Amino acid sequence: NTIYIPRDSSALSLGANLVATAIAREAESRHIPLEIVRNGSRGMFWLEPLVEVATDTGRIAYGPVTPDQVASLFDAGFLGGGQHALNLGLTDELPWMKQQERLTFARVGITDPVSLQDYIAHDGYKGLRNAIGMAPQDIVQQVTDSGLRGRGGAAFPTGIKWKTVLEAPAEQKYIVCNADEGDSGTFSDRMIMEGDPFVLIEGMTIAGIAVGATQGYIYVRSEYPHSIVTLNLAIKSAYEAGYLGREILGSRHDFYLEVRRAAGAYVCGEETALLESLEGKRGLVRFKPPLPAISGLFGKPTIINNVISLATVPIIMDKGSVYYRDYGMGRSRGTLPIQLAGNIKHGGLVEKAFGVTLRELLYDYGGGSASGRPIKAVQVGGPLGAYLPESQFDTPLDYEEFSKLWAVLGHGGIVVFDDTVDMAHMARYAFEFCAIESCGKCTPCRIGSTRGVEVMDKIMTGTDHAKHIALVRDLSDTMLNGSLCALGGMTPYPVLSALNHFPEDFGIHKKEQV
Ligand code: NAI
Ligand code: SF4
Repeated sequence: NTIYIPRDSSALSLGANLVATAIAREAESRHIPLEIVRNGSRGMFWLEPLVEVATDTGRIAYGPVTPDQVASLFDAGFLGGGQHALNLGLTDELPWMKQQERLTFARVGITDPVSLQDYIAHDGYKGLRNAIGMAPQDIVQQVTDSGLRGRGGAAFPTGIKWKTVLEAPAEQKYIVCNADEGDSGTFSDRMIMEGDPFVLIEGMTIAGIAVGATQGYIYVRSEYPHSIVTLNLAIKSAYEAGYLGREILGSRHDFYLEVRRAAGAYVCGEETALLESLEGKRGLVRFKPPLPAISGLFGKPTIINNVISLATVPIIMDKGSVYYRDYGMGRSRGTLPIQLAGNIKHGGLVEKAFGVTLRELLYDYGGGSASGRPIKAVQVGGPLGAYLPESQFDTPLDYEEFSKLWAVLGHGGIVVFDDTVDMAHMARYAFEFCAIESCGKCTPCRIGSTRGVEVMDKIMTGTDHAKHIALVRDLSDTMLNGSLCALGGMTPYPVLSALNHFPEDFGIHKKEQV
């Protein structure tokens, strides 16, 4: 008898450990031999803790399970897939799972995240084996041909970034993984680190071989203690089995990897602030150029990529660039792990090829708002992303289509708001967030964000209305064009999109809008 109970933070926060203990105790008292595998989450958070039972026809899901329901599950013979009010049927047949295209997340929720054996049994390390037999230029070319673009948010072509590092002459180069996932409503990096850490380790090792880097660091946000534990366990077994360290798998390539706990600041997700922090300094943004690809960690050429970008490399190196490139639309190739959060009935992770629309995600997957009220707006791409109104819900997820609407896809996080939200408050919040998180290096962001909060307060109390709206636009223009990094530079996205799409919340009618 094998059952699966996630070790993912989302499931733990909903009591997965208590459920696991209750099931182990119940099995023991009934003298039933039982193997409990602590897997990653399938990404259906409203069903967590989701307990899955292995049967001849596939895994059967039961959820959400509470400890006091465990005895009744045993009574119903759940270990054989027995009927019970919590029986949801075969996990893979649930509409949420069935309609996804899971490439990067192929193993998440399926395997035991800390078992190297299980990883290998599910096609793990095939990409690395291919890469070891290839010339560095060919690896970089394959990543370029796949069309993969940076999944951290900026969508810069990953292959071109790697090529820059490959061609930069240096004795020492580095691979840095940006796992400082700070965007609101995002958790795909975390789910990979807790659900399939080996895929990230493999991706980084391939990156190291591709550009001649022998040392890697994973900079994990301090709020992710479970990710740090899982990664370290996986790294330890990779070293022991010769997948990391000196002459990996008997090749001439060395690759060493370490986890670093982040400093707890949003701005440390900005790549140059991250590098400063990794060097042991305060997380201040650096001027660019030079790009990190030329002069990054300790002044050496550095690949710095998001978790999802690196975790997608193994499947590209295993199945080929054409396989990956075949998914998607336009210049957005492959799939995007999309995260549904906020006021949504069914929140969680959906990996789909680019081209799926917001409406499909919000209603077909998400099931509408959790409150049952109409969805008024969604914020896509974190706290610095634009708000999109209902009239834009048919937009396909595609970097260029979003950019036409003056919006961003960012890291794929979608936060949902119903019609009780006051968008003027949300605009104020954007300025406030920027004021709190600003590194203070440049004036438009450091001063502008605080002035923005003050002006929004005046708008919300109704004094000198037209003048203050004009001031918000002027201030936004300065921040947009004058900030050194995306924190100050993108704060106008939520502010102006809220103002433009929901002028009535700012006390103005559409026809008066300037
Ligand atoms: P960027 O457009 O300046 O750079 C993108 C990446 O490409 C960087 O790594 C840069 O070093 C690299 N690059 C640019 N030209 C290159 C070249 N010729 N050769 C090699 N590499 C080159 O964008 P930035 O400022 O790094 O990121 C902004 C984005 O970050 C935003 O769009 C936002 O969506 C996202 N973001 C993500 C967060 C998260 O939690 N994942 C949090 C906050 C923002
Ligand atoms: Fe620092 Fe803000 Fe300027 Fe970025 S925009 S460098 S966070 S002060």
